[in-house]
Amino acid sequence: MKSPIPLTQFPQTNIFRKGDVFVLFGELFDRGYATHLVDQARRAGMEIVGITVGRRDENNALRPLNDEELAAAEARIGGKIINVPLMAGFDLDAPAGGPTPTDLLANMTLESWEADKLDWSHIERCREVGVERFRTSLSEVMRILDGMIPDGRNVYFAHTMAGGIPKAKVFMVIANRIYKGRGARHMSSQTLLDSDLGKLILQNFDEVSANTFRHLIDLSAGIRARVEASGGQVRYSAFGYHGTGILVSGEYRWQTYTNYTQGYAKMRLERIAQEAWASGIKATVYNCPEIRTNSSDVFAGIELPLIPLLLALKKEGGGDWVEAQWQACRDLLAEEYTVEDVLQKIADMQTSDVMRPFYDFSAWPMPNSPGQSDLAIGTSSEITAMHKDGKALISDLLSRLVVEAVGQLIFGESSAPSGPVLWLNHDIVARTLVRTNGASRDALAAA
Ligand SMILES: NC(=O)c1ccc[n+]([C@@H]2O[C@H](COP(=O)([O-])OP(=O)(O)OC[C@H]3O[C@@H](n4cnc5c(N)ncnc54)[C@H](O)[C@@H]3O)[C@@H](O)[C@H]2O)c1
Repeated sequence: MKSPIPLTQFPQTNIFRKGDVFVLFGELFDRGYATHLVDQARRAGMEIVGITVGRRDENNALRPLNDEELAAAEARIGGKIINVPLMAGFDLDAPAGGPTPTDLLANMTLESWEADKLDWSHIERCREVGVERFRTSLSEVMRILDGMIPDGRNVYFAHTMAGGIPKAKVFMVIANRIYKGRGARHMSSQTLLDSDLGKLILQNFDEVSANTFRHLIDLSAGIRARVEASGGQVRYSAFGYHGTGILVSGEYRWQTYTNYTQGYAKMRLERIAQEAWASGIKATVYNCPEIRTNSSDVFAGIELPLIPLLLALKKEGGGDWVEAQWQACRDLLAEEYTVEDVLQKIADMQTSDVMRPFYDFSAWPMPNSPGQSDLAIGTSSEITAMHKDGKALISDLLSRLVVEAVGQLIFGESSAPSGPVLWLNHDIVARTLVRTNGASRDALAAA
């Protein structure tokens, strides 16, 4: 991908109707990107089907959800959950009797990890066991799902899986320093990637955040063939991240959160969609804006590019509803601060010499640097401190709005997607919100 390909038009076509089937490939969490995609499917009258990653018992063995967990998950998604554990990644897999990658990491210490070596032939065997486990479970999921889809219905598979951080004490400390450390606590993300620990983590990210999309496309081939033969259509979407175009000094410009260690896996995800697309399968990765969710809270400063959405909302039309969002943001700040103060802090950061090298799309995902970490993490904590309550932030409010707009755009575009990889930049997100007053697809249709 040499440059970002933005979605510029509102989706015009809708193939999804009552009785069609929407499959969420990942669990649903409260603030997550998938929430509004599921809402859109529900509004269209689709049957909602979910999966589970399963849970670990006291011996780390993967188990299905128990009755109580299953009932809660089905209530949350508003549909049926296929209760076969689909935990991806191989951090807790191993050939019978052998140590798992997580066991091997347990021997690493803060003093030793940079030089510690892993046995790569053993790691490869663990990876094969994990992939085999995932694909076997997914085949079972597909067998059950096949029985839930009547002929002639359209099917929408929405991939949302991302993750793969192994539960190793040493990595928790390192991650804290890479994503949250300033000054003496700064740690270079490149040092991590140069180590065996880092190389293992990148492989696990690939398995969870990218290869699961390929397994989904491959192992649903039977369903796809049957659905298409009976006059229905099948679509696949996945949430990507590869920076976002936001307003900087009055112009939309690509920028990124740094260091996005998962970026290699996200580029692999893009390639999987491109390969599927080349063989006639409608699979699209939508690269989405930075928001705060259960998964992204670990990245201090990820919310900084989100806040200038307030400027995009004005640029793309403004109006009473936009003014109401500005007012709601003003109300979250302590008396002595204005929204303009917050935006100025972000502008100062974005236009500083320290950040300039990081606006290179072709070099993504760049490693962090002491100056960049210091500025981004410092700006983030200063802005948090400008709020009345550190737990009720402008970025919470804007994250909710982005999730709504992105849900509408992805669901809308997926009927007749224009390509395998599309960026949802702040311009189209703001236009969607202005057009619908942050409301719903019904409002979009009426506009
Ligand atoms: N938050 C952001 O700023 C942002 C930006 C762009 C794209 N995205 C993408 O959006 C998608 C949803 O993320 P979110 O931020 O809404 O957070 P989320 O926490 O709501 O979703 C994370 C998803 O990953 C799944 N998952 C985690 N570990 C897994 C594993 N080992 N095996 C299988 N599934 C696993 C969870 O079940 C869940 O469905 C992800 O693909 C993420 O990369 C997020």
